[in-house]
Amino acid sequence: MIVFGHRGAPGYPRYGENTISSFNKALRSGADGLEFDVRRCRDGRIVVIHDETIDRTTNGKGRVADLSYEELRRFDAGFGEPIPLLSDVLDVFGAKCLLNIEIKEREIVDGVRKLVLEKRLEKHVIVSDFEWRELATLTPEIPIALLSSKLENLIPAARQMGATAIHPRRDLVTASLIAAARQAKLRVHIWTVNGLDEISRSRRLGVDGIFTDFPERCSTSAS
Ligand code: G3P
Ligand code: CA
Repeated sequence: MIVFGHRGAPGYPRYGENTISSFNKALRSGADGLEFDVRRCRDGRIVVIHDETIDRTTNGKGRVADLSYEELRRFDAGFGEPIPLLSDVLDVFGAKCLLNIEIKEREIVDGVRKLVLEKRLEKHVIVSDFEWRELATLTPEIPIALLSSKLENLIPAARQMGATAIHPRRDLVTASLIAAARQAKLRVHIWTVNGLDEISRSRRLGVDGIFTDFPERCSTSAS
């Protein structure tokens, strides 16, 4: 089972979330891959941040879309580090582990695609989105995963779009969903799995991967 550090390792808040330190912490804690979120700032550069604003995760305030990267990088996103650029995260971690890039706003997929291809990381990433339509432009060059909080049409749409994986919310996962995904040759990665019991259940069900805030718990949970 692949363990993705969800936004890094936010179970350790001093490292922040979606920061280089948090990603390093996740890998040191045993994660096999990293999950992170991307948005565009005012000058069009793609940055790694979950929320629409910087209020919760930095010592600043404002909308990501209203700030240039020169402005954004002055704020502390954890451990004295700035919000990273997608480009920097790909450079630092692209060759080290599997990267799940989650698209958090519209019309940035093409920018993500260009960066991934320019850095020849198409075999090292999976791009996911709750809004499935835009992902269609990535396949077959770059692997995609359909994120969802409901099962309706998930497997048929993933098959039809040539997706590599489905990313359903953890409570939706059952043995029959796993069987149907196997039949459709789709991997199943589920979010966000933090409790030891949930980690064990994921293993028993045979999910292919989990997103967790606490990667180290995966080496201690019983199978
Ligand atoms: O990719 C799975 C998970 O990260 C989706 O939810 O809100 O943590 O981005 P969120
Ligand atoms: Ca995410």
